[in-house]
Amino acid sequence: MNILKTIMASATGVLMAASCNAATNKEKATVIEPTQETQVTNAREGKALIVFFSHAGENYAVGNITVGNTKVVADYIKDYTHADQFEVVAEKSYDMSYSDLIKVAKEEQNKGEKPAFKGGIDNLDHYDVVFVGTPIWWGTFPQVMFTFFDKYDLNGKTIIPFTTHEGSGLGSVVNDLKKLYPNAKLEKALAVKGTDARSSKERVEKWLLELGF
Ligand SMILES: Cc1cc2nc3c(=O)[nH]c(=O)nc-3n(C[C@H](O)[C@H](O)[C@H](O)COP(=O)(O)O)c2cc1C
Repeated sequence: MNILKTIMASATGVLMAASCNAATNKEKATVIEPTQETQVTNAREGKALIVFFSHAGENYAVGNITVGNTKVVADYIKDYTHADQFEVVAEKSYDMSYSDLIKVAKEEQNKGEKPAFKGGIDNLDHYDVVFVGTPIWWGTFPQVMFTFFDKYDLNGKTIIPFTTHEGSGLGSVVNDLKKLYPNAKLEKALAVKGTDARSSKERVEKWLLELGF
């Protein structure tokens, strides 16, 4: 564990660089139940999609988890905004110990590998706002997210990044997205410590409220 802590500490050191959805009509004193359409839209114009990667299993500081930290945050966003979700799941397995995973991830990054992912999105045109969520792996996105970015053009969309991490914060995620999609509009990103993910609901909702959801 000390070795892991050392690796994480060095990774971190190097890389540190209302809306209520149910509309009420007070004049008529009746509650208008949201339709299917209003459930997936919200106070902001346009439909939102949450794209994220998350790794369940043995992870740094949180032990063996069945739901990954980033998925916990992605689910809070979904619950609040009623946005759709697309989880980027690599075809290859990352089911291994944390100490093995950090080596595999580093090697993928060094080699610029682009691991394939399962499934896809048919109707990206449908979405104006795309939340992009990721754990920080060696300072940025896991390589499989770059496979996703190669496949889908998010230029012209509003991108709202969020990360979970253990010290690197947003890492280079925002800069990477700016380079990848120079014609996207990037809005205020959120970084949540992985160990705080499960208790971050209020913080996530406050951020969403500030963003106009
Ligand atoms: C392969 C790997 C590399 C990581 N690299 C970093 C890093 O560079 N900086 C950091 O703060 N945290 C790093 N972490 C910690 C994760 O970002 C953090 O535990 C995150 O919450 C995991 O999210 P998840 O459960 O959704 O996968 C790394 C974790 C793994 C597994």
